[in-house]
Formats: sequence, C-alpha cells, structure tokens
Amino acid sequence: MTRTLPDTIFGLAASDIEPTLEFARWCDAHDPLAQHRDAFEIPCDATGKPLAYLVGNSLGLMAKATRARIAEELDDWSKLGAEGHVHGKRPWIWYHEQFRAGLAALAGAKESEVVAMNTLTANLHFMLVSFYRPQGTRRKILVERGVFPSDRFAVRSFVAAHGGSVESDIVEIAPREGEECLRMTDIEAAIAREGASLALVLLSGVQYYTGQVLDMARITTAAHAVGAKCGWDLAHAMGNVELHLHDWGADFACWCSYKYLNGGPGAVAGAFIHERHHANPPPRLEGWWGTNQATRFAMGPNFDPAPGADAWQVSNPPILSLAPLLASLEQFQTAGMARLVAKARAMTGFIEIALRAKAPSRVRIITPSATSERGCQVSIEIEGTTTDAKAKYDSLLPRGVVCDFRHPRVIRAAPAPLYTRFEDCWRLVEALA
Ligand SMILES: Cc1ncc(COP(=O)(O)O)c(C=O)c1O
Repeated sequence: MTRTLPDTIFGLAASDIEPTLEFARWCDAHDPLAQHRDAFEIPCDATGKPLAYLVGNSLGLMAKATRARIAEELDDWSKLGAEGHVHGKRPWIWYHEQFRAGLAALAGAKESEVVAMNTLTANLHFMLVSFYRPQGTRRKILVERGVFPSDRFAVRSFVAAHGGSVESDIVEIAPREGEECLRMTDIEAAIAREGASLALVLLSGVQYYTGQVLDMARITTAAHAVGAKCGWDLAHAMGNVELHLHDWGADFACWCSYKYLNGGPGAVAGAFIHERHHANPPPRLEGWWGTNQATRFAMGPNFDPAPGADAWQVSNPPILSLAPLLASLEQFQTAGMARLVAKARAMTGFIEIALRAKAPSRVRIITPSATSERGCQVSIEIEGTTTDAKAKYDSLLPRGVVCDFRHPRVIRAAPAPLYTRFEDCWRLVEALA
C-alpha cells in the first residue's frame, strides 16, 4: 500500500478504502479495538481455521470469561446451597444490580431506569400492560408492517385479549411501494394523521430485516406531540448503535441480550422505563422481586415497590442465564460504544465499497448508506427468486462465512465490532463474488 493512510481505522475516509485483502489486513493491524477479539471464543471450521462470523445480530459470540462467571455460580451453589443468596461471591439476592451500570451506559439511561429481566417478547407484554392504556377514542397502536413476527403476535394478542379490535386499533406503517426502508417523513405524517386516536407508537430502533436505524429521538418527540406514548424494541439496537433513551424521553424500551450483548442463547433480556413513570407508575404486572429489598422478606401482604425499573421485575432472576452477560459487559465497558460504532461504520463502509467493486450486479445492499441510518448490519438482497437467493446463501458457509438468511431474499451480515476483523468482511465479499 503506497498511499498515506491515517494512524488508525477511526480516521478512515470513504476515499481511503480499497477493495482488497491487503487493505482489510491493514485495517486489522490499525484497529485500536483489535485486542477485544482475543476475549471471545471464535468458532472454527473443520480444519481449525476461524470462521468469518457475521451473525452477531442473531447470536453474539461467547466471551472467554463466561465459563469462569458461570463456574463461580456453580461453585457457590455446590458449596453454599441456599446460603449463596447472601454469602456467595456475588450474592444472588443482589445479583441483577451488577448489570445496572453497564446496561444504563449502553441504553443512554439512568441506572434506576434499566433492569435485566425476563425475555424480550415477555417484556413487550409487560410494557404493553403499563403503557398501552387505551381510553375513549385514544386506542390505536402504531407499528411497522414488516416488524419482527414476535412483536406482531404480542401486539395483536394483547389487543385482542384486552377487548380491542385488531383491525381498527392497530395501525401499520410500511415502506413505500418499491422501497425497502421506512421514510422518517412518512412515520411522522402517520403519527400526525392518527393524532389524538394514537395511544402508543411501538417501533424497532433497528429494523431486523433491512438494518435501518430509525431516528428514535424524532419519532419519540412526534409521538409525544400528539399525546401518545412511545416505546422501542431494541433487539437489534442494544450494543449496536448509540442510544440516549433518557434524553430522547422514550417511555419504555425492551431488548434481548443474546445478539450484540453476547449474553448466550435465550439470555436474560432487559427493559428501560423512563424515570418520569417511577413515582406514579402506570398499572403493572407485579411479583415479589419487584418489591423493596428492605421489606421483601417480611412477607407482608402489600406490594411495597422497589425504586425505579426494578419494580417491574416479578421473579427472582435466573442467575446462570445472567452470568454470561457480566463477561460481555466488561468488554463493552473497556471498548466504549463510541469507538465500537466508529469501527462498525468503517467495516460496513468497507463491505459496501468492496461489494460494489467485486460482486455481481444482482447483489444489492438495502441497508441505508447514511451512517446515521445503519448500525453494523448490512442486509444484502439477492435479485431473482427466493431459491436463487437461498442458493447464494448456502454457498457462503462452505467458504467459511457465517451469515443468516431472511425470507424472501436477504442475506444479513453483521460484523459485530467487538470481535470481527476487516478480513472477515473481505471473506464475505469474496464469497459473494
Ligand atoms: C426485533 C425482534 N423482536 C423480538 C424478537 C423475539 O425475541 P425473544 O425470542 O427473545 O422474545 C426478536 C428475536 O430475534 C427480534 O429480532
């Protein structure tokens, strides 16, 4: 490489990017976050060569410290039994408190506004109980037509179970004919049009199929302007893009921890509830773990709520499913979200430029190009039939590239910046080409 390049990948401009393996290796050698990869187990092929693992948007990789974190809990359980609740290395009664600082930093929240609990779809139901409160003619929920099916099922079943009309109480917004992504102006227009009939706007911060990042601040403001609540599914946003839920004023948000947060399969999820709902909370589902620790074991008949988002917990948390998250959050803390976002932008920019140079014309990125509208996921649409697209997808794994496929024609590639190399991005481009 003869050109003068910046000292690190963080100074790269699009014009610096060259679609070559040599350039990818230069990037890896000048990546200030490169050492984080060593903190993760990287799956390998049959010959022991690391796979280009680009499905952190589906299941994040395991931090090496995970085994130790789980083993500590197994040790305490085996040696202390029930005493582990108070005398363990990390006593189980207070175990979930360890996640507050890390989750709050990633969510852009106050520590009192976040809680690690349940699973994502369960939390959506919990939040609907509190924040979808149809009254009089204000009863509609605005959702996206292409939303992840579980959210759709949650909203539809919730409305039906509470005596609403799935047909008239749920308003769907979709991309325009011939487009893949939502337009901000269309979302704002839909909110304004529904106006006082709107009880809740519930959207995904990052769309699972296209990878589009919505302007959560603007949409939250628009929802509040018509008197509606605003909540976010952050399954693909937590640990992927910078979030400022408190300042944006979102009413609530839910996320899962098995994607970018590397919490492991089925890991404990999380929720954000803005502090303005803490003092005079809306109705919520209650259980003993939502009560004040000081009085919880008095076993009294009344619900004495824990402060903040903790009051939305219902059960004592599954410690073994929380432990992996500790190991991963340590990595986020040292890497810092701003640097992870900068690296993700450099990697998706590299994929885009290299794909344009190398891949056949029937391969097209549908994720928006603007860096503010994408995280680390690139959704690649394969022209032709679903069978053609699936065949293309099936050809990747034998070449050592792990992506995922979403019906009808999209290959999703997510170079999670904690452990992905530019060389892995290059392997994707080469495999597609
Ligand atoms: C956007 C979105 N919402 C909801 C879910 C469902 O998550 P869970 O099975 O953890 O409830 C997923 C799972 O991938 C998702 O991507």
